[in-house]
Order: sequence, then structure tokens, then C-alpha cells
Amino acid sequence: MPQQEIKRFDKEFCLNLLRRMTLSEKIGQMVQADLRWKEDIKKLLRDGRIGSLLTVRDPHAINEYQHIAVEESRLGIPLLVGNDIIHGYRTIFPIPLALASSWDMQLIEEVARASIAEAVACGTTWNFAPMVDISRDPRWGRIAESGGEDPYLNSQMSRAWTHGFQSYQDPSGRCVAACVKHYAAYGGAESGKDYNSVDMSERRLREEYLPPYHAAVEAGVKTVMTSFNDLNGVPATANVFLLKQILRTEWGFEGVVISDFDAIGELIQHGFARDHKEAALRSILAGVDIDMMGNAYFYHLANLVREGKVTEALVDESVLRILQLKADLGLFDHPFIDESAIQSSLMSPSTISFAEKAAAQSIVLLKNTDQLLPLSITAQKIALIGPFAEERESLLGCWSFNGQVEEVETLAEALQRNLPAGAGLVVETGCSIAGQDLDLDATKSAAENADIILLALGEDRTMSGEAHSRAHLNLPGRQDDLVKAMVATGKPVIGILFSGRPLAIPELANAVRALLLAWHGGTRAAQAVCGVLFGQTNPGGKLTASFPRSEGQIPVYYAHKRTGRPIDSTGVIQFNEAHRSSYLDESNAPLFCFGYGLSYTQFTYSDLQLSSPKIDQKGSLTISATIENSGKFAGEEVVQLYVRDMVGVVTRPVKELKGFQKVKLQPGEKRQVAFELSAADLAFLDVELHHIIEPGEYQAWIGPNSSEGLTATFELV
Ligand code: NOJ
Repeated sequence: MPQQEIKRFDKEFCLNLLRRMTLSEKIGQMVQADLRWKEDIKKLLRDGRIGSLLTVRDPHAINEYQHIAVEESRLGIPLLVGNDIIHGYRTIFPIPLALASSWDMQLIEEVARASIAEAVACGTTWNFAPMVDISRDPRWGRIAESGGEDPYLNSQMSRAWTHGFQSYQDPSGRCVAACVKHYAAYGGAESGKDYNSVDMSERRLREEYLPPYHAAVEAGVKTVMTSFNDLNGVPATANVFLLKQILRTEWGFEGVVISDFDAIGELIQHGFARDHKEAALRSILAGVDIDMMGNAYFYHLANLVREGKVTEALVDESVLRILQLKADLGLFDHPFIDESAIQSSLMSPSTISFAEKAAAQSIVLLKNTDQLLPLSITAQKIALIGPFAEERESLLGCWSFNGQVEEVETLAEALQRNLPAGAGLVVETGCSIAGQDLDLDATKSAAENADIILLALGEDRTMSGEAHSRAHLNLPGRQDDLVKAMVATGKPVIGILFSGRPLAIPELANAVRALLLAWHGGTRAAQAVCGVLFGQTNPGGKLTASFPRSEGQIPVYYAHKRTGRPIDSTGVIQFNEAHRSSYLDESNAPLFCFGYGLSYTQFTYSDLQLSSPKIDQKGSLTISATIENSGKFAGEEVVQLYVRDMVGVVTRPVKELKGFQKVKLQPGEKRQVAFELSAADLAFLDVELHHIIEPGEYQAWIGPNSSEGLTATFELV
């Protein structure tokens, strides 16, 4: 369908509208509600006292409410409809942490666009994504929604998600606002408990946690959501330093700031405001434009203005931003959705096959002893065992409200459909995902008659996501017992792991001959796994969050500091023993490090070259290496560049990711992969938190993950 010419209403239009608004109507624009609100929503819409809805997903209801706002309210201002389209609308893509493993920014951008195309057709005009919180604690359930532990990689993804969400226009010309969240540092929650306090130095905040939000702002994100946590003693939702100094002044953000769900009201529980009125006051003064699902602005903002505690000019600033957002999205021209076009917009064959591609690109091969995978296509008897053999729902992952369970194939069904001629399949679940049931008789007899055991294990979808943190990161329920029993049969066991986070699974990793990490891969997860098992897809995913060996190591991440007593030094001898930064009962190394992932082929790295041994303050250099596919399969490799500043005015991480490239090589093919590194890429914050580019020695690595690679040094002069 040709796209219609859409008239964008300009600032003058919005100003004229603002001049005609009463105080109550203005505050209405700053209130967001869902259908559970205790007030009569329809009446409030007629009175112009609500400006946006959230988590309303029924398209017919959205049109109905929009008709009231546009046709029955005095000024006819259309509503924004906000939803959480985190990894797909009806067609569910892999969870963001899984998509991150693809290290493919174009893929992520296209996933964002495909998700939004379905959502817009059903009435969403505001997407509460991307979530770009740096996540280094796998206990935190929301790591599933994130891109993992690294600031550089998360910043790239933040741009890709933002472009993807905001670049889509429906046939009428409507588009969607993205909302980068949760500003700020929500992923730094103490002890991995959701909503918990965050206390970190300004250096860490600025160098590690803020860059992905900033990247979204630079990419033109239209809205920002504040986070629930307090940061260094001040809740983010009333945090003048975050919202005024950094967001508006330093980054020049001109869009709309919304609180998280009742986060203004929660200032009371934080002990930061006595009541809703004070909470409203502190939040508007800090710069929050919209109160999501709270009672603070709705009940108290007008009085605060009348009492002179808040100027009407401040309210006007917020309202103008909101009106401009509505105008920019095309809502004044096209407030309604075409309900007759919905069906054809959902689950199109091309979107479904794209979901399969995305799921396949997200799979990480963690172990493959003796090249057990891919499965040979000669006749084999396969036993598919484990609670994920017949699972549908949990393949969808957290935040997948519109995904339909019956549209998901189970692994057993997908395997049956893809079984090579002559192969046989027997399926036994053995136990539930998290219950105490265990049936070893049936699983053992299935296993004993098989040539190979596929063990489908993992966490269910409710074990990750918001408010779903775990203190124990093992396989839940009786799955460990199932693993032991299957390994004891002596048959080769291939583990297939479905999870929303990195798990602490050293025994599993040790016991199985091969291990595939399938994550919660969405609507087409099972087909994608089949493609990898049978070798139609060569897995190329690499982890973006380290897998701990045990919970006691958390946080375990590659870009840590060296300390004065690193384990690889001679240490300091006290009491006849070397005193080093380590554990008595656990290694320092993660089970699988950041950037790690295998392939069915082998990639050989050689010939590391620097274009110059020196780089000056304004200069750059090229670092390259030759990557050869020395195995038998065509494959893709994520080639990673890391750098370390050897001596600094402040201590620096042992390694920092500075670049990556995904290259596809045929067997025997070689390619020189070159990275341009500028002195500006090496900037960091000095003692006074000023950006500096520091002269001195640097070490660079080009490698397949954060703990291996070719290395050389250069000097910054
Ligand atoms: C609370 C969550 O923290 C946030 O991510 C989400 O966007 C809102 N609820 C709205 O659903």
C-alpha cells in the first residue's frame, strides 16, 4: 500500500493548542493510566484528564478510547498508547539477551522494526523499550531483557533498537516512539534483587552504566523512562542530577520523560517523600513529564500550581513536549487504527521465518566434544528427554503477552518434522521444569534404546523478567537428577538449555558431551534448534554476559579491575601463603566468559598487525588480524577487539571491548579483519571526572572471546 503523505504538526500548532488548555487539561496530558485505575477512565477521557494509556492491548478497546478522546473531549487531543514490546508483539523473537548473542546490529534493528509493525497495527504508539541497563548480575531476572554486561556493545544495541523501533511507519504514516529505560543504572541493583538500591561511584556510572542510555539519546530516542531504584541515595525518579544535569543539560535531550509504573508514588516507600503530594512536587521539579499509573500528578499537581510551589510555566514545558510527541507520531492526523487490516499484519510468513532466523542466530554452542554436533544424518535413534521436550509456553520467554502458546511448536514436534529419513525419535519429559516429580524408569528405558540423548532443560518463562530474581542459579526442580541418570547410561548426551539468564551449571557443562544454549528463543525457537542440531545452521552466537561457576562469584564480568594482588602475580607472602584476590573454594574465572561461543568449524587467528606502534592524541591506528576458516563448515565468527590501558591516572579495567566484526567464511577461506582505533576511543575519566586521552602504553587483543586472542602493544604519545 502506498504510504500516505502525513502532515506533521509543528511547534506553533502545539503552542496554540497549549494556550487553549485549562490547567486540568494540561495536567491530564501528564497522567498515564491503565484500565485497572480506580477512576472512571471514559469520563476522565471526556474531561481531558488522561493523556495516555498503558498496557491496553485490545485494538478494539484502543480505538474506542481514542474515539472518546478525539471526538468527545473539548480539545480532541489524541491519546498515546504505551506497551512493552520487548522482543516481539504476536510473533515472538528471542529475548533481548539472546538476540544480543548474535552481535548482529542489523538483525536487532530488523527485529525491532518487525515487532513494531505488528504492534502499530494493533494500536501501540509508544514502546517502552529498549531496555539498556548494564546487567552483570544473573540473579537479577531482568537480565533477560538486557543486552548483558558490556557498555560498548550495549551502546551499539541501544542505537539499533532505537532506530528499528522509530524508523517504522505504518501505511497511514503513523510511527512509534521508543522509550529508553530504565534511567538510570537499574541493572546495578544490590544483590540482584529487583527494585533494589544502587550505590556506585560517579566514575562507574558515567563510564559503564550511562553510555547505552546516552547512545539512545544520540540516536534520537523520543522518550526516556526513569528507574525504580535509588541511586547513591536519591531515587532516580526525582533525581535532579540524572534528569536535569545529565539528561537535559549534558546530553541535550528534548523529548518526554516518563516515570516507571507508580515510581513517583514509590518515593514514599523510599522514604524520600512524606506523601503523594510531596512525591509529585519532587518529581516535577526534577523533570518528570508523565506520571505512569500513579496518583501523584492526577490528585496533587493542580494544587501545587495553585499554591505556587510549581509554576504553570513548568507544567507548560512538559505539556508542550507531550503534544509535540503526539504530533510527531502522526496522531493528530491518524488517531485510529484500521481494525480490518490487523489480521494481515500479524504473523506473516516473512515475519515468522525471520523469527526463526533470529532464534538461530541467537543460539550459542557452549561445548562440542569430538564434534558430536551436528548430528550425523545417518540413521540414528534419538531419545529426546527433559521438561523442555514438550514445552511451548516457556519458549516465548518473559514479556510476551500477545504471543500465543498454541502458535509455538514443541521441540519434539519440530524434531519429528525434521527427522532425517531412517532416524527414530522417542520422547520422555522425565520431570517438570520446577516441580519435585521425577520419572526415571521411562526416561532410562527410552535412553537405553537410543544412540544419542538430547536433553532439553532449563528455566521456565516466569523465572526471569521483572520481579523474578533468583538466589540459586542451578537447574530448577529435579533436572539435575535427570541429568545424572542420563549421563549414567553411558550414551552420548547433548544438552539443550532454554533459559532467560546465565545459569551456574558447572556440573551440567562437565557431564554432557555437547551443550547448546537456546535461551528463550520465541515462537520459532524449536525450529531454530533443529536447524542447529542437524547442521542446516552453523551456530555463531557468542555470550554477552558471563556464565558464573557459582553464585558466590557474582558479579563476574570480564572488564574488571586488576587489583593490587591479582591471581596471576606472585602475590604478597604473608603467613607463608600468597595473599591474592581469589577464593579458597572457587576459581576466579567464569564458567563461560563474555564473548565466548563455538562453531561447527574452527577459526584460526594469525598475523596480528598494527599500522603503527604509536598513536597521537588526534590520530588513529589500524589493528588487523587474519582469520581463517580452518574447519569443514561455512561459518560466521564474531571477531573481537579489546584494549587495556596499562598504567593510568586512575586504575583501568583489564580489558575493554572496543570493536567487533561478524565475518562469514567458507571452509579454507581467510580474511584480514581490520579495526580502526582512534585515540578518542581510548578516552576515560580522570580523577576529577574530566575526559582525558592519556599518553602511555596500551595493549590490544584481537580474539574470539574476552579471554583469548593475539596481542600487541602500542604507545599513545
Ligand atoms: C514496569 C517496568 O519496570 C517497565 O519496564 C515497564 O515498561 C512498565 N512497568 C510498564 O509496563
